[in-house]
Amino acid sequence: MEFLYRSSANISDSDLIELNELLVDYKAHLVRVANRGGYEDKESSINLPVDEVLLRDVLAASEAKSERALKYIIVIGIGGSNLGTKAIYDSLYGFFDQFEPDRFPKVLFADTNDPKTITKLTDFLITHIQDPSEFVVNSISKSGGTTETIANTEFIVGALRERFGDTVYERMVVTSDAGSPLWTSAVERGITTLSIPKNVGGRFSVFSSVGLFPLALLGLDVRALREGARAMRKRCLSEPIQTNPAMLSAIILFSHLKKGKTINDNFIFHPELESLGKWYRQLMGESIGKEKDWDGNIVHTGITPRVSIGSTDLHSVGQLYLGGPQDKTTTFIYTKRVASTTLMPRRRLFPDLIESLHDKSLDQIMRAILEGTKIAYLKNKLPFMEVILPDISEYSLGEFLQFKMIEMMYLGSLLRVNAFDQPNVELYKIETKRILEEEMS
Ligand code: PA5
Repeated sequence: MEFLYRSSANISDSDLIELNELLVDYKAHLVRVANRGGYEDKESSINLPVDEVLLRDVLAASEAKSERALKYIIVIGIGGSNLGTKAIYDSLYGFFDQFEPDRFPKVLFADTNDPKTITKLTDFLITHIQDPSEFVVNSISKSGGTTETIANTEFIVGALRERFGDTVYERMVVTSDAGSPLWTSAVERGITTLSIPKNVGGRFSVFSSVGLFPLALLGLDVRALREGARAMRKRCLSEPIQTNPAMLSAIILFSHLKKGKTINDNFIFHPELESLGKWYRQLMGESIGKEKDWDGNIVHTGITPRVSIGSTDLHSVGQLYLGGPQDKTTTFIYTKRVASTTLMPRRRLFPDLIESLHDKSLDQIMRAILEGTKIAYLKNKLPFMEVILPDISEYSLGEFLQFKMIEMMYLGSLLRVNAFDQPNVELYKIETKRILEEEMS
């Protein structure tokens, strides 16, 4: 994976050295966390890709639930409990499900409690599934008490039980903190459980059983995913600032934030990576969007993450980005790997329209749009970074996800905030539960 920074308003070398100094101690801390191994530290998620016991347990559970007839893996979870899995699934398969209706297994995601979606999902399952071997339900909640996940589990499993009886339990896996309310209830009913290591929060959990189990069951190469993550962990913990993608990116975002660039737009030039952008949106939003710094001072800090798709969104928000407020940094994300060498048909329908399209492939056309966009950004003095993936594979997705999680740790340290909690979201959860409880009486 290549990481580049382009801007007509470059960060000076002296700024870079000064900001690098702020990260020296934190980088040393991350190295200690990695050397110590295990899950004692807030940053311990960096140890997931080297945890062999975790891999063994996940592969054993996946083998136990795997069936030749398997068609649907129903992932029930929200936020950090499903966004990483969805990012990887959509990047490799999910986005193309509309064109590949006969490729199985497929993953079906249930996160919010939208009545129409969940009703359509349960109707679909009970009409399309003939035998329990055709599905696995993976209910995922670290806390084991999230309203959306518990409610969706009840509706979906309830519908399947009406059709197939209690054998449904044998086709379930619950992923949660060992000892959580969900975990305990699952164990009581003989349902398979997978644990999430302590100190690994939802948005940092994609390389734990949260992401690995459904992806392994799907048949994805989770070993390659972990290899990519391991290679990136090494880069981000050992390389100097100039070649360290996580440190450099954190420093660029931080220094532009100080200059009023409060938005980071992830401009992704492959539509199948949109969910990857949404995964990052949550990672950035929850990790550094904070009311208080780590000394308890009110700071109301954060960078607002955005996801744009090229070239679609050039025709939607391109005008705003190029001509509107200069309050954004942009991260262009793309791969140079050619996806199709097919050229424009020789016998064109409208040969006189855009003559320069003659003999061009779709890759060439997209490349011209991307390069044209970057030139327009440079001409407008809009700073941008580039993340160039070698391809879209398990390995490079592993690299990207690990890069961004470590970037967020460095950014939290620069902003002096706890990147691992989400105290302000708790309020809505408490209020929701209170309203539901009031309606009981
Ligand atoms: O990243 C996080 O910690 C959150 O987004 C959680 O994943 C989300 O709130 C769901 O929580 P839980 O996994 O406890 O159901």
